[in-house]
Amino acid sequence: MWQVAWAVALAAVLCLSLSGSAQRADLCPDGCKCYRDWLNCSYAGLAAPPGGPWPAIDTLWFAGNALAAVGDAFFAQLPALRNVYLDENLLPSLDLAAFAQVDALRKLRIRDNLIAEILAPPAGVQFDALIELDLTNNSLATIDAGAFLPFPVLTTLYLNDNPLTFPEGRPLLAHPQLAYLYAARTRAEALSAETFRDTPNLYELSLTGSGVPRLAGAFRHLHSLAYLYLQDNVVTAVDEEQLPAGGRLRWLDVSRNTLVRLRPTALQDALHAGYVYISDTPLACACAFEDLYRWAKEDKTWLTAYCGGAYDFCDFHKA
Ligand SMILES: *[C@@H]1O[C@H](CO)[C@@H](O)[C@H](O)[C@H]1NC(C)=O
Ligand SMILES: *[C@@H]1O[C@H](CO)[C@@H](O)[C@H](O)[C@H]1NC(C)=O
Repeated sequence: MWQVAWAVALAAVLCLSLSGSAQRADLCPDGCKCYRDWLNCSYAGLAAPPGGPWPAIDTLWFAGNALAAVGDAFFAQLPALRNVYLDENLLPSLDLAAFAQVDALRKLRIRDNLIAEILAPPAGVQFDALIELDLTNNSLATIDAGAFLPFPVLTTLYLNDNPLTFPEGRPLLAHPQLAYLYAARTRAEALSAETFRDTPNLYELSLTGSGVPRLAGAFRHLHSLAYLYLQDNVVTAVDEEQLPAGGRLRWLDVSRNTLVRLRPTALQDALHAGYVYISDTPLACACAFEDLYRWAKEDKTWLTAYCGGAYDFCDFHKA
């Protein structure tokens, strides 16, 4: 008898949980998937977000759709958004006025769009929560130095893979809070002592593959800089008084440059017990870094100097 009761109870539980999930599915818009406070409407062929309101949704995935504009209506139904992913859409500009409706916006990712322009928000509008903005692989050729001032707590900015030309003799950006700046595969030929003047608190900076010909004093005053990625450029020398003074640098990568000169005296006031990469440069391949090798050993700095995949090719390694 208890077996029957048990089966009935089990059926009731199953029934309840089935109707529960059916209800959640009803609430989820067509073409989207819903999980707690997430809405995933990616790759659904949508040109606009689902009608709402969705007052509890804090994360919207909207990649791979046909969004060509973020109008005022876009966020009206999604007032609690904190994280927005709009990768692989067709946005031609970043119109900040529309985003100003989502007060709690913390992270905004718009990779792989066609953004060529950043339109400033109305005067006085600030994004007090936005800490990360990712504009990787867009069409930005120039950026107004003050473009990111409406984001007072922005710490991380991705500008990789944009045809961005660094302005000659002027700061790239004015943003005292910015700590992480990724500008790989841009056009950073015109570095100068002014380039990072107004972003003095950078901690990690990537200019990988950006045509950098010389350091030009651009990093000297970045006293918080710990990670500097300069691989795949055309730097021929890292000289004295070019790296940040103060010894906070932990990581310097100048692999795959046309580097012929990097003496210990260029590093010793910038970096201690850190990591230095000079692989696949004329300096490494000609074994012309014995002084650096000895300094690094003494300083407990990890020096990586491969040449065409080989490491132990220089005589002083064996001595
Ligand atoms: C969102 O849905 C798309 C399409 O089904 C899927 O490819 C993607 O992995 C999902 N993303 C997340 C974060 O769940
Ligand atoms: C960059 O974005 C375009 C679409 O705008 C896409 O076709 C291309 O594959 C992306 N490139 C990379 C390296 O992801």
